[in-house]
Amino acid sequence: MKLMGMCSMRGWKGVQCRKLFVFATILFAASIVYFYISEKREIVEFTEGPVTDFSMKSTTEIVNDDIQKEGYYAYERAAQETGGERVIRFNKTSNDVIVFVHIQKTAGTTFEKFLVRYQQNLPCKCQAHKKRCNCGRNASNETWLFSRYSTGWVCGLHADFTELVVNSCVQRVLDKQAGHKKKRNYFYTTFLRNPTDRFISEFRHVQRGATWISSKHVCNGRPASVNDLPTCFDPRIGWEGVSLEEFISCPYNLAFNRQTRMLSNLSLVGCYEHLRRPSYEQDKIMMESAKENLRQVSVFCND
Ligand SMILES: *[C@@H]1O[C@H](CO)[C@@H](O)[C@H](O)[C@H]1NC(C)=O
Ligand SMILES: *[C@@H]1O[C@H](CO)[C@@H](O)[C@H](O)[C@H]1NC(C)=O
Ligand SMILES: *[C@@H]1O[C@H](CO)[C@@H](O)[C@H](O)[C@H]1NC(C)=O
Ligand SMILES: *[C@@H]1O[C@H](CO)[C@@H](O)[C@H](O)[C@H]1NC(C)=O
Repeated sequence: MKLMGMCSMRGWKGVQCRKLFVFATILFAASIVYFYISEKREIVEFTEGPVTDFSMKSTTEIVNDDIQKEGYYAYERAAQETGGERVIRFNKTSNDVIVFVHIQKTAGTTFEKFLVRYQQNLPCKCQAHKKRCNCGRNASNETWLFSRYSTGWVCGLHADFTELVVNSCVQRVLDKQAGHKKKRNYFYTTFLRNPTDRFISEFRHVQRGATWISSKHVCNGRPASVNDLPTCFDPRIGWEGVSLEEFISCPYNLAFNRQTRMLSNLSLVGCYEHLRRPSYEQDKIMMESAKENLRQVSVFCND
């Protein structure tokens, strides 16, 4: 089955993805799994029935289960099986924040629009002709959603895990907005896509003129320099109309292995060093890191 291979990049068995793919077939009517990060790692599920229904639940029991176990995403059944579980909800009135890690060409934009405009349980205040909505909590005006259409790209265009989490950008930005340091529960969320389809989609997007040149690629506390990360094209001209051959022959093309890279802790591999000196060892470290992080974030796969 074609869909089964969708997350099989670089030796990753694709198990999580294959399982989670169930959700993607009906993007907005599916069950969505959230992992909740705290000292005690727990999984939080976020069920969406009709678009108006928006609740999250979690059980501490599930997290100890093998991730491949079917009950993992068949939440309703798992909850019944475990019984008496501790339920964690995304707390609307507390300090819980959903952080969306937007990997290019994975349907992230659609999901982000949905979150700010169409779900009803945590409505954001949107204005006509305004790109961003105010997802501030009623009392404090502090946002419950960190994403393109709420906070905007405050951590850089398509900021990755390294920028958002490793370099603590989310924490810093929200503390700044709140005016003081604050403890929050972050619900990291992302969408994944069959790597080949995603790559081709990115290629087409670049062909149409996209470059994401203003991405900062912050790692180890500083943005990547041109030295760290040479561009594949003359920045004054862009890469519009690039041929596939040229696209795949540039070693610094960030489209390669993008999902793994954007979900891994790049501090572990000397940031963008691996682009200059590709090595199997570093690829492996990145993959392991991405997998580890994926266990902590919510994943949506789509094809
Ligand atoms: C949500 O957070 C508020 C404020 O911290 C707290 O009073 C309330 O009990 C929490 N609700 C749940 C269901 O945990
Ligand atoms: C703000 O208030 C509205 C209307 O009472 C409610 O529907 C919404 O869920 C509240 N938002 C938050 C984030 O608490
Ligand atoms: C709430 O925050 C948003 C930005 O997050 C801002 O545009 C708005 O003016 C704030 N509203 C109030 C009442 O402070
Ligand atoms: C990322 O890797 C660095 C270097 O090993 C480590 O110090 C840091 O704690 C890691 N951060 C996260 C969020 O995994």
